[in-house]
Amino acid sequence: MGNNVVVVGTQWGDEGKGKVVDLLTAKAHVVVRFQGGNNAGHTLVVGGKKFIFHLIPSGILYEDKTCLIGNGVVVDPEVLLQEIDRLAEAGVKVEPGRLYLSEKAHLIMPYHKALDLAREASKGKAKLGTTGRGIGPCYEDKVARVGIRAVDLTEPDVLEGKIRANLEEKNFILTQYLGAQALEPEPVIESYLSMAERLNPFIADVSLILEQATSQGKEILFEGAQGTHLDVDHGTYPFVTSSNPVAGTACSGAGIGPRHLGHVLGIVKAYTTRVGAGPFVTELEDRVGEHLREKGVEFGSTTGRPRRCGWLDMVVVNDAKRLNGLHSLAITKLDVLTGLETIKVCVGYEVEGKRIYTRPASLNVMGRCTPVYQKMPGWNDDIMGARKMDQLPAEARDYLKAIEDIAGLPISIVSVGAAREETILLSDPFAD
Ligand code: GDP
Ligand code: IMO
Ligand code: MG
Repeated sequence: MGNNVVVVGTQWGDEGKGKVVDLLTAKAHVVVRFQGGNNAGHTLVVGGKKFIFHLIPSGILYEDKTCLIGNGVVVDPEVLLQEIDRLAEAGVKVEPGRLYLSEKAHLIMPYHKALDLAREASKGKAKLGTTGRGIGPCYEDKVARVGIRAVDLTEPDVLEGKIRANLEEKNFILTQYLGAQALEPEPVIESYLSMAERLNPFIADVSLILEQATSQGKEILFEGAQGTHLDVDHGTYPFVTSSNPVAGTACSGAGIGPRHLGHVLGIVKAYTTRVGAGPFVTELEDRVGEHLREKGVEFGSTTGRPRRCGWLDMVVVNDAKRLNGLHSLAITKLDVLTGLETIKVCVGYEVEGKRIYTRPASLNVMGRCTPVYQKMPGWNDDIMGARKMDQLPAEARDYLKAIEDIAGLPISIVSVGAAREETILLSDPFAD
């Protein structure tokens, strides 16, 4: 029996978690999402085809694996059904047995989306730049103990009562405070009851399925969404999401104890990106930033927004090392750096004449931080065909070595292209 593996983003999301999860699924039996919702967009390129998953775990392309959506995920049932339908069109049949949804997962309702959009609009320039998918309002209702859970889809009377009760309050806020349209209860009830008919066979106790898997010695892969610096506790608050993307959430969000977590793998993009507003010390608004955006195709997989780009920030990665208890790193998109004459890595921040090595909690202080860079020579050879370290140019190997040294962690995977096979596997996280 090997380890279980937790895959987490170390930056602000979009590190390439989906690609790595798809790759590692070959060695797992079960893949489980444990937080976030369809604010996530995880892209895989398999057999020349591109798939983007928002809710369904990125392991779904393997026929013989079980994919689970844990209780910590907020689920928009319409998006889940669309995703199932799109997979069917691509020849991937998603049936119960292959996919299960936790009965305790909270559902995103139309009023969550309406509130998300209306609040962002009311903030004007001060908006957070959310994905508008209703993620924040759904998590708020969960904590306020008025949320609607997947299990409610199996009890039509309960579902109807909860929708009516919620809409009374939400409609008041939408119309009286936010100047938005009210929602009629009937169409909402009707559409959720109709979606329930299709979704009910997928609803299960995910914690029990995981217990069964561990007792049979089956490997579990935990698929994080977002990234450590979007964490509602540890991220650049308030420019964060409303869940905890850190590895510890794999326990509470899937229904499993900490001793089962195994290897924690941090995904690090070879440079930094972020979508939406918030501080970004190594951001580049010049030709190099443009190179990264164009070559890295840095446009959101969920909203299509151009992503902000900058140099690799090891202050951010080292914070993620501590917050997640990382065992190793997977470096992605190394190929995007090809063609740059000089590459810079941020090794610390300077603020008020002092050098610091962790991200300050105050956004005012963070706004005054300037990056301290280590400069390294770049390379020009195409590296997408490399499958072993010695097939990389010396400059690329030196860059990877610098990352290992600054982080004090080994690199287990290097990704040199979007496709599954465009990967250098240095060690197996399931084995170490
Ligand atoms: P996630 O949210 O962490 O799963 O990442 P996204 O899928 O949102 O963004 C990563 C993007 O980079 C996707 O379009 C991937 O297909 C692509 N990608 C992943 N790894 C590599 C890589 O090594 N090289 C290149 N060029 N693209 C990659
Ligand atoms: P994956 O899993 C990148 C960002 C949004 C916004 C902030 C809050 O693909 O890495 P929300 O809709 O969650 O309330 O928005 O969080 N955000 C992401 N950025 N990748 C993601 O997911 C993200 N999920 C949310 O852009 O800044
Ligand atoms: Mg993404």
